[in-house]
Amino acid sequence: MKKRIRALALALAAVLALGTLAGCGSASAADDKYIIRIGHNQSTNHPTHTGLLAFEEYIESELGDKYEVEIFPSELLGSQNEMVQLTQTGAITFCVASNSLLETFSENYTLFNLPYLFSSPEAYHASMDDPDITGPIFESTKQAGFEAVTWLDAGTRNFYTIDTPIETPEDLQGLKIRVQQSPTNVTMMELLGGSATPMGFGDVYTALQAQMLDGAENNELALTDNGHGDVCKYYSYDMHQMIPDILIGNLDFMEELSEEERAIFDEGFEILNQTQREAWETAVEEAKDRAENEQGVNFIYPDIEPFQEVLQPMHEDMLEQYPDLAPIYELIQEHNAEFESAS
Ligand code: GCU
Repeated sequence: MKKRIRALALALAAVLALGTLAGCGSASAADDKYIIRIGHNQSTNHPTHTGLLAFEEYIESELGDKYEVEIFPSELLGSQNEMVQLTQTGAITFCVASNSLLETFSENYTLFNLPYLFSSPEAYHASMDDPDITGPIFESTKQAGFEAVTWLDAGTRNFYTIDTPIETPEDLQGLKIRVQQSPTNVTMMELLGGSATPMGFGDVYTALQAQMLDGAENNELALTDNGHGDVCKYYSYDMHQMIPDILIGNLDFMEELSEEERAIFDEGFEILNQTQREAWETAVEEAKDRAENEQGVNFIYPDIEPFQEVLQPMHEDMLEQYPDLAPIYELIQEHNAEFESAS
């Protein structure tokens, strides 16, 4: 923990030093450029990094005389929670955060964290592309000092363990499973009978290796890109969540953009979204192949109905607690139905 705080302090000191040199946060002097700093917690191999590089290229090609984009991968600027706070204060301009974490900044985000909310990846994509669904949710963090500007694919979350094949919810009984730091994820794990262990993404590998955890839950890229498949040998497709990642921007920065600049940034967010999504599918296929053939991970395809039955009450509880979200929930059900009838 101490090490992490020290690393964060050092990273911030570096950012501030850079800021002083480059006129951080202002474009006052003619030769000064505004440095747009973007933090994320994935490696440079990850589709999110590829997408951000395309965003950087586009913004600099269109507005390069005024802005310079710098991307900080791999939690260089701290954990996601820490990066969200840096974005709120304007110490950095953007960061990528999992929707899970954002529910602690605005309860509306709870919706996308519900287990089995989307019935297929197609319905998930269509819902996240539907401004009637994302609009009211993305707007709601403005009170917290940041704006959600686009979403990124983070696939389907599944359970994986060091040595316990998960075929049914009963298999999770008593297991210590890392979850993201959000109340919804803790409730989900408790309902399934496991012991929820919330922690930041960057701490999971060491905790698995030290056997402080029995397992975790995430998409396939965590096995390879983050090395979790070196320790966990069973990955079970229970498909419990499709939780998007969200690019958030400091509100003051967003509001100070001129109309023309805002249009260019919006195009840049679209390029980021499309590039990341195109890279996603290949990345998952490659990760699965590597996990199976190089890391010796066993993939399991359980009947998901028993998992759904245990977790369905979370939908009713959420709608009771946040009745304003009901119309958006219904729109998602329409997308679910659309793709169920198509298949
Ligand atoms: C995925 C997601 C990240 C998130 C991580 C986690 O990798 O893309 O945004 O931080 O899961 O489990 O914490």
